[in-house]
Amino acid sequence: MPGDVRSFGRIVCVDEPSPDLLHPLLASRWSPTVFDPSKQVSPAEVESLLEAARWAPSAGNSQPWAFIVTRRGEPDHDRLVRHLAASSGAWAPSAGVLIGNLSHRLVEDTDWEYSEFASYDLGQAVAHMNFQAQALGLFVRQFRAFDREAITAEFDVPQHWEVTTMSAIGHVPAHASNPRTSNVPEKQRIRRPPASLQWPHTAATDAR
Ligand SMILES: Cc1cc2nc3c(=O)[nH]c(=O)nc-3n(C[C@H](O)[C@H](O)[C@H](O)COP(=O)(O)O)c2cc1C
Repeated sequence: MPGDVRSFGRIVCVDEPSPDLLHPLLASRWSPTVFDPSKQVSPAEVESLLEAARWAPSAGNSQPWAFIVTRRGEPDHDRLVRHLAASSGAWAPSAGVLIGNLSHRLVEDTDWEYSEFASYDLGQAVAHMNFQAQALGLFVRQFRAFDREAITAEFDVPQHWEVTTMSAIGHVPAHASNPRTSNVPEKQRIRRPPASLQWPHTAATDAR
């Protein structure tokens, strides 16, 4: 329902991504909390996901990212699942692939910043991976609900790297094939109105 505006303490839009304005890959992207535990993600698909991240742009071509990549059924998958929070532990283990997204924060053996854009660049690499996943018919939910220190220790991540986020990537079952039939809370799909993205804000935004 484009343009249907409700208030949740601020002006928000309860609508759909516009297929008239967006590429189908962008319009159809959403983050499921239900994955199909009967479906695998193949090694070739994983290779394709990593290739998408590899070719993402980054500040000064610094490429400040690395990924702990685990497929369901592999020993390393269990080592990641062990450190999920209760919330993500309810759905992330069912995804065909679980990935730890690491950013290079500091220069080795110093407290100097490796790149002031490390998080920004990692996010962009993960975004590229997300859209490659979409192109392969897979879905992605990124999340922070895990024990960062425990995964850092489990995988001997050096202190100048950070396990910033994780991604659960896989197929969704037919009954949960879109956000409305899935169990994603409506609140998680609400977007700010288009005018609020432009600076300076318009009158509509100032009414907040
Ligand atoms: C950096 C980051 C951290 C997130 N952390 C969590 C999380 O811990 N748990 C969760 O269920 N979803 C998490 N999400 C998913 C967001 O809630 C979701 O992307 C947002 O509600 C928008 O929904 P959409 O992706 O379907 O458009 C995270 C997303 C990002 C990008």
